[in-house]
Amino acid sequence: MVRATLVKQRNESLTVKDERTGKVYSIPITENSIPATAFKKIVAPRKGGEREEDETERGLRVLDKGFLNTAVIRSEITYIDGEAGVLRYRGYPIEQLAVNSSYLECAYLLIYGSLPTRTQFRTFENEVMHHSIMHHDSEELYSSFRYDSHPMAILTSAFAALGSNHADANPSLAGQNLYTRGTPESLAVMDKQIFRLLGKATTMAAMAYRVRQGRAFVTPPVGLSYTGSFLYQMDHLGEEGYKPNPVLERALDVLFLVHADHELNASCTTVLQTGSSLVDPYSAIAAGCASLYGPLHGGANEAVIRMLISIGSPDNVPQFLEQVKRKESVLSGFGHRVYRTSDPRSFIVRKTADEVFAITGKDPLLETAMRLHDEAMKDDYFVSRKLAPNVDFWSGLIYRAMGFPLDFFPVLFAVPRVAGWLAHWRQMMLQEGGVKIWRPRQIYVGPEVREFVPIEQRKDESKSPREKPTEVYHSGQSRRYWLAEYKGKERAKL
Ligand SMILES: CC(C)(COP(=O)(O)OP(=O)(O)OC[C@H]1O[C@@H](n2cnc3c(N)ncnc32)[C@H](O)[C@@H]1OP(=O)(O)O)[C@@H](O)C(=O)NCCC(=O)NCCS
Repeated sequence: MVRATLVKQRNESLTVKDERTGKVYSIPITENSIPATAFKKIVAPRKGGEREEDETERGLRVLDKGFLNTAVIRSEITYIDGEAGVLRYRGYPIEQLAVNSSYLECAYLLIYGSLPTRTQFRTFENEVMHHSIMHHDSEELYSSFRYDSHPMAILTSAFAALGSNHADANPSLAGQNLYTRGTPESLAVMDKQIFRLLGKATTMAAMAYRVRQGRAFVTPPVGLSYTGSFLYQMDHLGEEGYKPNPVLERALDVLFLVHADHELNASCTTVLQTGSSLVDPYSAIAAGCASLYGPLHGGANEAVIRMLISIGSPDNVPQFLEQVKRKESVLSGFGHRVYRTSDPRSFIVRKTADEVFAITGKDPLLETAMRLHDEAMKDDYFVSRKLAPNVDFWSGLIYRAMGFPLDFFPVLFAVPRVAGWLAHWRQMMLQEGGVKIWRPRQIYVGPEVREFVPIEQRKDESKSPREKPTEVYHSGQSRRYWLAEYKGKERAKL
């Protein structure tokens, strides 16, 4: 057993004593962090009975299931103080940005590091908005999906497919160091893909929306804002002089702004993990999109509404909270890996909800949501675990009031998050020392080495149903099929 004594010293180092060997190691502390590789130098002789797979003589390993306390990159983009409920993009508090800025301006800020001047913004906006048109061939991809396909499945596929149109942007074809050189030519290639991805994100999301409505695709408009163009592309039915409702356009922009980045969440980490193999940015963004789709991440806003519908009315809230406390249900839209208090974005979204409801009318689920919020915030189960509303608790109600279908909610999260993903991807590509492939370690606890056994001599070794494939039901096969007889098959007895 390892018993290490950790002592923080004045000279910014950590003294670690390995009780197995009596050896003392000094590990430097920089920016209040220690390099995990320093632990690799802590070795001990293998004792009798110790598994060779523990690799004791090859250095201590650091186990952190689910990245609970592992930093994987140095970043200048977003800061979160989870205890105080603080969120800042490049140093600017989210509350100030939500009032004074716009989504596209924040995208610039996140990606390039400072708020743009008027001229810089005009050029950036112009590039993004003029990279919004999709190749006509891509319409076939959208049309090949079934009418009831989840739009996140469509969007994820669309991002991956988009990369196939741009061979010049693919490091596998155009050179491994396409994005890591940092030269003006390399930066130009990188920024062109950024413009394309930001510009086409709304077009692709709107196409996923239209294909399910059975509507013909439209060409992205000229002269509208980023969210105005998105609304046009979803809603335009051929009328002349279409203009989206300004309150809804601004509300969507605020929602986009607060969803633009959230440092190393699951999807951003996936983008970086995928990007670390130097794959093209389209594939990396598609991977991020797939990660965001999960109910613990970008799917939570959809889960909140399903939960509110299932609760039914404010009167059923106490009963539902009892179920949550018995661990039979989860209170979707509450809790966060980083925030130990209310998510600062939740206040902005709550205020935006009131502005939207003022023109769309209140959602009938709002009463249930408010009762749920108020009861949970004073219940010891949630208080003691520091569980408070996150951004998803209120956002779903706004999307519903605006008339978006439930399964479109994660799309409304993924589209703005493209800016954050790209900011982190760009930063990693240009980081000092180049890109190192992200290759974590594991603690191997499986069987020790064993001899291959020929099939005739094997016995069933499975000890539980988990250790062999489960028998599955074949829904596509009817009784008629089973009762039929053909060469090589006897008639089945049902
Ligand atoms: C976001 C989330 C995945 C974070 O998970 P995490 O950091 O791994 O937190 P844990 O699962 O360790 O939770 C700690 C405790 O709080 C409980 N808990 C966390 N979130 C909860 C929730 N939403 N409802 C009920 N209980 C919850 C856990 O059961 C656990 O209880 P225990 O100590 O009795 O075992 C989690 O809070 C969650 O599932 N929330 C609902 C989904 C959601 O809204 N996601 C959007 C995030 S922006």
